[in-house]
Amino acid sequence: MRSHYCADLISLAEGTELTIAGWVHRRRDLGGLIFLQIRDRSGIVQVTIEPDQGEVFAQADKLRSEYVVVIKGRLRMRPDNMINQDMATGKIEVVAQHIECLNSAETPAILIDGHEDVAEETRLKYRYLDLRRPEMTQKFLFRTKVTSLLRRYLDDNGFLDMETPILTKATPEGARDYLVPSRTHKGSFFALPQSPQLFKQLLMMSGFDRYYQVVRCFRDEDLRADRQPEFTQLDIETSFMNEEDIMNMMENMIRYVFKELMNVELANPFPRMPYQEAMEKYGSDKPDLRVDMPIHTVDDLMSGLDFKVFSGPAQDAEGRVGVINFKGGAEQISRKMIDTYTQYVSVYGAKGLAFIKVNDPSAGLDGLQSPIVKFLTPEVANALLERVGAEAGDILFFGSDNARVVADALGALRLKIANDFNLLRDEWQPLWVVDFPMFEEDGGQLQALHHPFTSPQQLDPQALQADPTGTLSRAYDMVLNGCEVGGGSIRIHDMALQQTIFDILGIEKQEAREKFGFLLDALKYGCPPHGGIAFGLDRLVMLMVGANSIRDVITFPKTTTAACPLTEAPAKVSPQQLDELGIGLKSKA
Ligand code: AMO
Ligand code: AMP
Repeated sequence: MRSHYCADLISLAEGTELTIAGWVHRRRDLGGLIFLQIRDRSGIVQVTIEPDQGEVFAQADKLRSEYVVVIKGRLRMRPDNMINQDMATGKIEVVAQHIECLNSAETPAILIDGHEDVAEETRLKYRYLDLRRPEMTQKFLFRTKVTSLLRRYLDDNGFLDMETPILTKATPEGARDYLVPSRTHKGSFFALPQSPQLFKQLLMMSGFDRYYQVVRCFRDEDLRADRQPEFTQLDIETSFMNEEDIMNMMENMIRYVFKELMNVELANPFPRMPYQEAMEKYGSDKPDLRVDMPIHTVDDLMSGLDFKVFSGPAQDAEGRVGVINFKGGAEQISRKMIDTYTQYVSVYGAKGLAFIKVNDPSAGLDGLQSPIVKFLTPEVANALLERVGAEAGDILFFGSDNARVVADALGALRLKIANDFNLLRDEWQPLWVVDFPMFEEDGGQLQALHHPFTSPQQLDPQALQADPTGTLSRAYDMVLNGCEVGGGSIRIHDMALQQTIFDILGIEKQEAREKFGFLLDALKYGCPPHGGIAFGLDRLVMLMVGANSIRDVITFPKTTTAACPLTEAPAKVSPQQLDELGIGLKSKA
């Protein structure tokens, strides 16, 4: 039907005959002269109908918002005084010659042409209308470009686009599984993949060498702005490449996409930071480097003070006294805000939030203002000021507790202050976090920090068994502006080593066989050294388009309670269906 998309008309010459098709975005009747704004996925253009246009005018007169139309017309340059600078096609208009109404529309539940705040629940219920809003449409046009460029890069580098099963067995990535009951094997369940991890490793064992897939993953976990129960990974695996090779190639890919789509030159190479340093300095395994404000450790200064709040954790091997310096913050922060921040860090387990305002650092202890100054000595005060690089007007915040609470509390406070006071620099800060510990302790039980197929740096089974928590892994995370956009590792390709890891994790032989027998078997038949990574595609696009939530870049996302207001999924099923599956419900909730 159409000859051009609306946005493309801008490059045509005066007088060009054209046909556009789309929706009536807006209709204005200026005393006989009718202006229509016609919208398609590319954008909006103005169509003008004059009173003496008879049938065309009669047609235009009947149109309302969101009616679907096809319009034939002629391109006209607008006179200078009619140019609309706010509109991409503001220099032109279409003089209508023929209008056909293809469909009418009721008043939409969401204003397409408006900026009013609509409740997210309503936006999701009428998502098909929400997606018509130009700002939403543009995000998805951008998303397809990102995917397309990522694919192009991988295709050009010899990666094969291959599929893996959705109805499968549990893959441990740390979340709960979504289960699907089997009708043909009553009492048995498929799990939807949390990631294609094991299958992509098997594809390496089959010799495909370089694999990728843009693939849906399913995780039943607590949802946040950057987490959805189903989300999309750009999943990648390679053989015969070490972590250097993989990280280089992957950051090249991300640099390529940023350059092509946004003309942004990301750092080359991306900086790298050991996990330990990230946790200590920024209290996070995904530090946002757009703001400095590191956490300083001052255990050595505080351990001798007659102030139990500080000296206790300072003397304790598991404890820590940390401090952040909000430069120039003393004047900007009110007593009330300090109370708010104290409340804020309590969520992370902090029992208080001591602070010091620095009035005059050259005056040492006398130049400080705080309820805790009385506990400090002049020597401690001077050493503290030097350590945190204090200047007049700064304010210092302290966390004193076990090291984990201090990292969590001050790490979060650092970002809160950065957000509240607009301290995040307008720049792109990519980072590789490396040297993760292999295991973390969770209620006395060791868990794999990444997943149990990640190779340790220490390959000797005895040394591993002797000091599992001191062992680092060959994992790497890509972080962008404080968001983990990707994570991967070199894998274990030796069966004995894989078995050792299962042993350390307390996965019994029997259980390991039942859960991962196929992997252990496959490792016996000539497995190449391999490794890979998976990117959270939704997160990457969210960052690139400047959205606050991945829900804004997922066509039909779920709510925070993992439901879909549009289809009303999840939904009850009939007793017959349950019966066929051999399932009885415990309660009629
Ligand atoms: P990981 O669990 O780190 O690794 O996941 C990889 C990336 O996927 C994104 N991501 C999510 N995005 C939205 N919603 C979620 N619920 C969600 N969970 C994860 C993140 C994350 O960095 N198999 C390994 C990868 C590998 O080792 O190759 C894996 O899945 O951006
Ligand atoms: P207190 O002696 O309990 O009145 O505390 C004195 C100051 O230290 C107050 O500003 C508290 O907010 C702060 N404070 C108390 N406990 C901690 C802690 N664990 N970490 C940091 N500051 C604390």
